[in-house]
Amino acid sequence: MTQYSKRMVIAHWLTLALLIVAWFLGDAVNEARHEGHATLVGYAAHGLVGGAVLLLTLARLYFCRKDGTPPPVGQSLMDKVAKGIHHGLYAVLLLLPISGVMQVVTSKVCDALRAWDAALLPAKFDGVPAHEVHEILVTVLIVLAVVHVLGAIKHQFIMKDGLMERMSLRKKD
Ligand code: HEM
Ligand code: HEM
Repeated sequence: MTQYSKRMVIAHWLTLALLIVAWFLGDAVNEARHEGHATLVGYAAHGLVGGAVLLLTLARLYFCRKDGTPPPVGQSLMDKVAKGIHHGLYAVLLLLPISGVMQVVTSKVCDALRAWDAALLPAKFDGVPAHEVHEILVTVLIVLAVVHVLGAIKHQFIMKDGLMERMSLRKKD
């Protein structure tokens, strides 16, 4: 096996697309709340896209188990670090949406959504630890994703070893 399975590749790039949308919506909801015009639709849309990331990650871990993954490119320390980063990314892809759900259920956002009444939305998340955890995990995701992408760029443009093809739908001859 020299490439990831087709469904693993689709899940990888779909996760990236959903993450960009979830991040944009999360930031927009946060900004709207600070400016006093947050909407229920904003919270619902962010929660749904974030929830889709969680479901897709669970599906991806199942595909990973069933289809396997290509062997590591090498045995150097950097290859081991790259593997560790992958594990870290999977952990954050599970914990970030879970902390988002916890944030909703342990705050007034849940009451507002259930009554579908924007007047009940909280102005602040004081005393909601999941809010802080969610923010910290967003930062952890950014750091891990940047290191991961820098690694991919190094393989593509400096080492030129064709690693990117492993995460491509194009079949290697
Ligand atoms: C991987 C998926 C997710 C990503 C990338 C993400 C990203 C973000 C970001 C960037 C923020 C703004 C943080 C800030 O600037 O303070 C945020 C806030 C928030 N997220 Fe998520 N999130 C995800 C999943 C979820 C889920 C599944 C839920 C709930 C079901 C959720 C609920 C919230 C809530 C309630 C806020 C607070 C908004 C506010 O400040 O008023 N998130 N998220
Ligand atoms: C432009 C952005 C990205 C590029 C170019 C990229 C590229 C790649 C490549 C080439 C691999 C295969 C590595 C190998 O075979 O050893 C890979 C694996 C992986 N990527 Fe990305 N990636 C990107 C963004 C992301 C993001 C944002 C995440 C998650 C938040 C992510 C999570 C993963 C994970 C978890 C694996 C390991 C898959 C496994 O072995 O189970 N990637 N990526």
